[in-house]
Amino acid sequence: TTAFLNDSYLPLEEARISPMDRGFLFGDGIYEVIPTLGGKPVGMGAHLSRLQDGLDALSITNPKSETEWRELVSALVQKNAQHLQSDSVGIYIQVSRGTVMNRAHGYPEDIPPTVFAFAFATAAPPVEDINKVSVFSVITGEDKRWQRCNIKSTSLLGNVMHFQQGKSAGKQEIILLNHRGEVTEASACNVFVVKDGVIMTPPLDNQILPGITRKLVIDSLKLEGIEVQQKPITKALLDNADEVWLTSSSKEIAPVTSVDDKPVGSGKVGDVWLQAIRVFNRHKFE
Ligand code: PDD
Repeated sequence: TTAFLNDSYLPLEEARISPMDRGFLFGDGIYEVIPTLGGKPVGMGAHLSRLQDGLDALSITNPKSETEWRELVSALVQKNAQHLQSDSVGIYIQVSRGTVMNRAHGYPEDIPPTVFAFAFATAAPPVEDINKVSVFSVITGEDKRWQRCNIKSTSLLGNVMHFQQGKSAGKQEIILLNHRGEVTEASACNVFVVKDGVIMTPPLDNQILPGITRKLVIDSLKLEGIEVQQKPITKALLDNADEVWLTSSSKEIAPVTSVDDKPVGSGKVGDVWLQAIRVFNRHKFE
């Protein structure tokens, strides 16, 4: 795999950073995962603008222009297309505050950020077929993360521990609930529910990541005259939903057919999911 570190492309196995990097010591950095299909990125502009928002929140100067980021992403896709042997390639990019030879919490002044990026093969996007699409089973659990989940920080311990909680229960994800018993998001995805034909997702605030797939789903449905309601989703609504979906850059829209070992709706993939994935596929490269 060809990776990118600071100013150069190099084999991933040869990439080295100092253990004094603040990304390593403090998780002091921002990351993005940008999906590409057949070499074409999905939601590139939105990913770069979220990256900028995260860097602004941490007062890290963006080390690259938007054009440079786009070039980096397409170069990594090109350099890795052949050996990854996949049409679906994810590009991980990370900017940490940088390296200084002392460990002090406060932001050091004027140090160059560390830029790291690599390409990886992702699962093929969901097929537009209710009978053939891969389905997800999840548990629910109390959201025990911090109150700045809108920042796409590399400090992912809360998410990692929650994901493992789901995995240990034999599930592929965990849907998290705040202290009011409302859905926030999953450990690495946003959540949508459908009830009586109405599509709903929790509103954007500090409790969730503003997912790019979430945005693309809402925007593409809107283009075809279907409104998504952004409003709090109670556990009761989740339990009584006809459909539950997870969205993320690597999963696009993934149907959930079981929550806490109980079937969602009929226990089968729903019609609204099929409609949504078709609409999403028509607009995702726009
Ligand atoms: N995860 N919520 C959380 C906590 C996430 O980590 C992610 C993405 C999402 C979905 O965001 P998007 O649609 O922009 O991918 C929501 C990425 C893919 C990851 O950490 O690998």
